[in-house]
Amino acid sequence: MADIREQDMIATRDGRDVSFFDLYSIDQLSLEDIEIIYDIARKFREHKTYKFSLNKWCSQVNVFFENSTRTQASFDLAAKNLSMDTVSVGSSSSVKKWESYLDTIQTLDSYNVKTLVVRSSEAGVAEVLSRHVQASVLNAWDGWHEHPTQALLDGITMLDYFGTKDLKGKTVTIVGDIRHSRPFGSLVRLCKKLGAEIRVATPQTIATSHVENFWLTLYGDIEEAIKDTDVVYTLRVQEERGAKGFVPSLREYSKMFGISRKRLDLAAPDAILMHPGPVIRDIDVHSALSAVDSQSHILQQVENGLAVRKSLLWLLAFRYDGKQKTFTRK
Ligand code: CP
Repeated sequence: MADIREQDMIATRDGRDVSFFDLYSIDQLSLEDIEIIYDIARKFREHKTYKFSLNKWCSQVNVFFENSTRTQASFDLAAKNLSMDTVSVGSSSSVKKWESYLDTIQTLDSYNVKTLVVRSSEAGVAEVLSRHVQASVLNAWDGWHEHPTQALLDGITMLDYFGTKDLKGKTVTIVGDIRHSRPFGSLVRLCKKLGAEIRVATPQTIATSHVENFWLTLYGDIEEAIKDTDVVYTLRVQEERGAKGFVPSLREYSKMFGISRKRLDLAAPDAILMHPGPVIRDIDVHSALSAVDSQSHILQQVENGLAVRKSLLWLLAFRYDGKQKTFTRK
């Protein structure tokens, strides 16, 4: 007999399933999928870190070939809060001994795990691997391509703050290193699905074909981009990926595009400040704004990350419709 909190979760889910078995791109999601994920995530958020038995007897491997704090910790905690067993492999795995990604992932799949969370530096890895394993593959970012669970946690943060079902009539200004950012591609896709107007403020030297491909409006002037916007979403300058080669210096970048109190005050009076983390204080965002300012929703994003990932793990590990994923061994 399910306890009262589990009954609450089961009632919230109401027999619903999402339309996908793996999550590698926001393009896969219908508006109905997003609504199901968010309804369940909100309920998990209410129950905080309560230990559910919803995914008991299920296991997860976190396969992280690149560094992470938030994504890895929250996927691991999410699984454990659902009573899953978890194990992590990454930079010390046998990939270092020339084992291919495919052989690695099929090896881990042979442990009959339910979910494989994959972060890699190459675009498309999660999607390709998902076709050849029984487990559901969740993309924890792939190269400069997508970071779908980051966008989902960003979306719920915006919707819950505005108290709306979509972002129609809202303006989201994305500031910073769109060239090297992992969250950018997914964030733009999700904001478009939810109906937001998107502005991009970045140095011309960092702007990419994304701007034309997604029909975005590019601003070289940060003040103009922020004026009256509802969300200021800042991205980290990815120095380790060579971003410094695209700007004269980090100090100059900060002067031109860093978010200060004065700049944030140009946004709409109830605007919020968001950042996927990690924040480089005093480069992307002025230190005083980063965590404690009432307009900063950066830690709310982190909290929502746990709830959204829990929602996805439950939806993918347990289906009411009895449908099964198809895949081919290679
Ligand atoms: N936002 C994000 O993906 O952070 P981590 O790299 O710490 O996981």
